[in-house]
Amino acid sequence: MNPYFLNVLITGASSGLGAAMARECAAPGVTLHLSGRDMDRLGGVVDAARARGASVRPVVIDVRDAETMAEWIHGAGRLDLVICNAGVGAGTGDAWESADAARRVFDTNVTGVLNTALPAIEVMATQAPARDGWRGHVAVVASLAAFVAGPSAPAYAASKSAVQRWAEARDGTERKRGIRMHSICPGFVRTPMTADNPFPMPLLMDAEEAARRTMAGLAVGRLRIAYPRRIYWLARAVGGLPPGLLNRLLGVAPPKPRG
Ligand SMILES: NC(=O)c1ccc[n+]([C@@H]2O[C@H](COP(=O)([O-])OP(=O)(O)OC[C@H]3O[C@@H](n4cnc5c(N)ncnc54)[C@H](OP(=O)(O)O)[C@@H]3O)[C@@H](O)[C@H]2O)c1
Repeated sequence: MNPYFLNVLITGASSGLGAAMARECAAPGVTLHLSGRDMDRLGGVVDAARARGASVRPVVIDVRDAETMAEWIHGAGRLDLVICNAGVGAGTGDAWESADAARRVFDTNVTGVLNTALPAIEVMATQAPARDGWRGHVAVVASLAAFVAGPSAPAYAASKSAVQRWAEARDGTERKRGIRMHSICPGFVRTPMTADNPFPMPLLMDAEEAARRTMAGLAVGRLRIAYPRRIYWLARAVGGLPPGLLNRLLGVAPPKPRG
């Protein structure tokens, strides 16, 4: 953990990877701003983070609500690290991707990330640099699915590819004004999102391990934090196949449950 991440904001902190990252960041002297859509679900994470000595400020906000997100982020005070983590998955099931599912995935995973990252960048641009030399860090949670657009979850893969590329490209300009951007690309993580997947999930890891790897990557300033490395390289290779061949190959796997 970077000792200069003293003011941390995480969306989607009520469950899975977001909850694990909140626990990983929690320590005396750290202020955590945590969001989810349900205070009961968020409550357990808040208690765990407070038990580790952090000061915690929980809020219930839907990341799709741009105005409320901007008010929250602009009112949070200094922010050393903002993690745009809230996301939803949706598959096609045995049929096709529903219109509702496609819109919900893009609204949450792309627009929700922008609703978090853009105000965070505005706040950080006005802050003095911390002792690590940066005004702040914005990390977007993408996925290894960013590198392989399989036919069983088209919107999900496309949404993750969009935010991964956006964050990495934008780091090239933001770092000139003292702000870092990072993409986080986990493989399969054991969370409610993957609980019903009917297909094998190689190198499935616990959320705690994913959170540790994420924080270790952020601590050393890595631009793209992708793990496990073997699945990452496999995803890059398979994702480079011609799209028709890729669809035929991935089409034989059991489909992701319908969203
Ligand atoms: N699990 C994996 O294998 C895996 C792999 C790569 C990347 N990821 C990514 O990791 C992130 C976390 O996923 P997870 O696996 O931890 O899933 P999860 O356990 O389902 O957690 C999703 C979190 O996002 C929040 N959320 C969803 N929609 C929201 C909205 N509209 N507004 C505010 N919060 C919202 C949920 O809050 P509520 O409590 O309100 O529902 C929950 O806290 C996602 O971006 C996901 O795509 C996951």
